[in-house]
Amino acid sequence: MDFRGSHITSVTQFDRAAIERVFDVADSMQPFARRERRTNALDGAILGNMFFEPSTRTRFSFGCAFNLLGGYVRETSDIKTSSISKGESLYDTARVVSGYSDIIVMRHPQAGSVEEFARASRVPVINGGDGPNEHPSQALLDLYTIKKELNANGRKIDGMRIAMVGDLKHGRTVHSLSQLLLLFNNITFTLISPLELKMPEGIVSELRAAGHSVIETDDMEKGLNDNDTVYLTRIQEERFSSRLEANIYRGRFKLNQEIYTRNCAPNTVIMHPLPRDSREDANELDNDLNQHPNLAIFRQTDNGVVVRMALFALILDVVELVEAKSSEVKWYTASRFDN
Ligand code: NCD
Repeated sequence: MDFRGSHITSVTQFDRAAIERVFDVADSMQPFARRERRTNALDGAILGNMFFEPSTRTRFSFGCAFNLLGGYVRETSDIKTSSISKGESLYDTARVVSGYSDIIVMRHPQAGSVEEFARASRVPVINGGDGPNEHPSQALLDLYTIKKELNANGRKIDGMRIAMVGDLKHGRTVHSLSQLLLLFNNITFTLISPLELKMPEGIVSELRAAGHSVIETDDMEKGLNDNDTVYLTRIQEERFSSRLEANIYRGRFKLNQEIYTRNCAPNTVIMHPLPRDSREDANELDNDLNQHPNLAIFRQTDNGVVVRMALFALILDVVELVEAKSSEVKWYTASRFDN
């Protein structure tokens, strides 16, 4: 895969070599993300960060990643204050914004919208989430996290067992992660969801056709047995016709210390794309696991920065320049990366 100048709209663009390349470059970005070094490789470049759906970590980490490479970030973060609310087409918005920016990250509530936007854009576009469809950079950072967590005690992605829990119908992160895992071998997927919120049939068939084992169940406690990773998701309330309808499913599956200890194999890595829904009637991942060493959710969010730095560096072709234009950090840096 040639990253230079390309759009990243779907994980189906990747092969294993491309994933390895992203992970290697992400590793090389660690000193910069950890504030041990700084670089101005992207000095003068502008990121158009266009978010037309709520976001905290995706928007922020894309912005920080670009800043850490020395570039500038301009943002639109509200559909109501953007010209889209005046009826402007994706085509026109893309033509305009791509005249102002060197690269664009876009999140939008409609499946396929980022693809359509990218076709009209004059600069590379990264999909920051298009409705329930895809979230490729999240899948890459999830897989990067899984690899690191498993490698830490001698396990690998090939042959691993992963449980995905929650709203598998609407969750774009589990859609993209599953499709990325198509490229690996002999994985056991335990898909735990209410019957009405199952993983789309097309993805399940693809996983089976790729030789993976897929178990679908609505019995969480049984499904939690014998996994290397448990990946929890929130009920995607905004994809339902009403809050009332989402409430039928909210709180159905909850992982807490007691359920984890009773059902999960030792060393099962706990992941969640976040935000976790911490309201009492939902609480799919309880705070009582916050100090658990296998809770990887904040290592996962930290990894989002280096993976996104890697995507920018590869697409804008500055991987070598990052090191060449680097210097030491002079300000006080707290050691905050060993969570
Ligand atoms: C996810 C998303 O927006 O799809 N969040 C994220 O980007 N980390 C998951 C979610 O909102 O539940």
